[in-house]
Amino acid sequence: MSVIKHYVSLATALLAVSRSTLALEWDATYGNSPALFKLAVNPEIIALAHQKVALTRYPIDVKQPDWSDGPPVHNATSVRDYWVKEYDWSNTQRRINSRFNMFTTTVDAKPFSEYEERVPLHFVHHRSNRSDAIPLLFIHGWPGSFLEVENLLEPLTNPSDASLPAFHVVAPSIPGFGFSPAPTNPLFGPRAAGESFNNLMHQLNYPHYVIQGGDLGGFINRFMASSHPESVLSVLSNFWLVQPNSTDFARYYAGNTTDDERYVIEEFWNFENKSSGYRFEQQTSPLQIGYAMTDSPIGFAMYIYEFMFLTVQNYIWSAKELITWSLMYWIQGPYAGFRFYKESVNDHILEDGLLINSTTLPYIHQPVAISEFPADIWYRTPLDWAQRGGNVVVRKVHEKGGHFASVETPDLLIEDIRSFFGNGTLSNTTMFGY
Ligand SMILES: *[C@@H]1O[C@H](CO)[C@@H](O)[C@H](O)[C@H]1NC(C)=O
Ligand SMILES: *[C@@H]1O[C@H](CO)[C@@H](O)[C@H](O)[C@H]1NC(C)=O
Ligand SMILES: *[C@@H]1O[C@H](CO)[C@@H](O)[C@H](O)[C@H]1NC(C)=O
Ligand SMILES: *[C@@H]1O[C@H](CO)[C@@H](O)[C@H](O)[C@H]1NC(C)=O
Ligand SMILES: *[C@@H]1O[C@H](CO)[C@@H](O)[C@H](O)[C@H]1NC(C)=O
Ligand SMILES: *[C@@H]1O[C@H](CO)[C@@H](O)[C@H](O)[C@H]1NC(C)=O
Ligand SMILES: *[C@@H]1O[C@H](CO)[C@@H](O)[C@H](O)[C@H]1NC(C)=O
Ligand SMILES: *[C@@H]1O[C@H](CO)[C@@H](O)[C@H](O)[C@H]1NC(C)=O
Repeated sequence: MSVIKHYVSLATALLAVSRSTLALEWDATYGNSPALFKLAVNPEIIALAHQKVALTRYPIDVKQPDWSDGPPVHNATSVRDYWVKEYDWSNTQRRINSRFNMFTTTVDAKPFSEYEERVPLHFVHHRSNRSDAIPLLFIHGWPGSFLEVENLLEPLTNPSDASLPAFHVVAPSIPGFGFSPAPTNPLFGPRAAGESFNNLMHQLNYPHYVIQGGDLGGFINRFMASSHPESVLSVLSNFWLVQPNSTDFARYYAGNTTDDERYVIEEFWNFENKSSGYRFEQQTSPLQIGYAMTDSPIGFAMYIYEFMFLTVQNYIWSAKELITWSLMYWIQGPYAGFRFYKESVNDHILEDGLLINSTTLPYIHQPVAISEFPADIWYRTPLDWAQRGGNVVVRKVHEKGGHFASVETPDLLIEDIRSFFGNGTLSNTTMFGY
């Protein structure tokens, strides 16, 4: 195989110098305005992954009764076999290029963050041909990527029925994820990501827009809404975490909490106590696991598979899907995605051990809708608790689905997006005619 050099080419001298020397494993130019992007990953990194996968060494197979130690070894062997014998990256890459209209650009993370560098971004952008379309920013989470927006694109941009609301959909890759290059300096966390995405929306000539996000996107959207009331009209979150206060805990220990209050506390504790080791590692010493994960594609696939498996209700992740999702991190190396958690601590949202410290998450004055799904790690938030974090006007507690709503139950999420943002009285989208 020929050696192919992939470098970020400089569109203009205005880009930060440090980027000019950054080698990427895919072809890309990050200029100062949106330019079409076609995914073309260096075949050598795909071949390297394949080689490493073929050489995978397995842990001993303790007969654990459930997933309490992590994904079983038989999953690792079957994913390895599929990867070695059947997985076809070129097919995946073709599919991504045909399903997503993708672009690159460069923005900055100002004014409300401490990050000084320019920020190269990869993003999906599907415009509706409807004149009343609402610009909607979709923000992915961990361990997902821009791929999470796929099922929403067609129904939101080109609804089958003219009475349904239409949207222009923008789905950026958080820097360090997918094909937005990793920040090369510290201080790029949810707050800086939010500043970048707000600047992206303005660069796309969307001075007013709405946001949908879960997981990391569910934190980023809170910073954005709070910092940019002039731009963010309303927010639909499928991950609206709130911190119970000391009175709530006193009531909990006295057995005085409602069913919903008790459920939120106990289910989240259960997850935190049993399944959140990844988070503490990422938010404390991301480089400590960075080396091994950057080197082992199967190790990384199994690392994210645990969370993916535990937080869906009825969804079977195929080996192919798991491999593609892991490659969205592994191609540029998963360390940057890990350290976004460390930056989240710096932005004061994941500190204090077991429960998030939402005292430092800003209050959102714009209308907020929350959508919750049973297999998620946070479910049944009482409305009065939810309202401590913002002006929550809609609370949907679904009976089906989990953490990856756009993947497992896209129809429910689409319905929530339509009913909230399609109602101008509720979500302040009257300027688009709703
Ligand atoms: C929008 O595009 C779709 C096909 O992509 C077409 O069916 C529809 O008629 C178009 N609508 C308008 C209002 O142009
Ligand atoms: C609705 O959005 C406009 C434009 O950003 C803003 O001026 C207004 O205060 C918002 N209204 C509410 C109720 O949030
Ligand atoms: C906790 O929140 C409840 C309801 O919002 C409030 O009545 C109570 O005073 C709060 N407790 C503390 C310690 O802030
Ligand atoms: C719990 O409820 C009981 C009965 O209403 C009440 O006497 C007690 O003060 C409550 N305790 C707390 C901590 O809320
Ligand atoms: C989880 O940890 C918390 C705090 O350390 C503890 O109080 C609680 O009993 C544990 N709950 C479960 C369900 O394991
Ligand atoms: C992992 O194994 C379980 C059965 O234990 C199976 O249901 C699941 O599909 C497997 N996952 C993958 C990605 O092979
Ligand atoms: C939450 O963070 C704030 C500011 O960072 C801090 O003052 C407060 O003590 C923290 N709350 C808890 C419960 O530790
Ligand atoms: C929009 O929301 C308002 C406020 O909740 C409600 O009164 C109204 O019926 C809704 N409109 C539609 C068309 O659903």
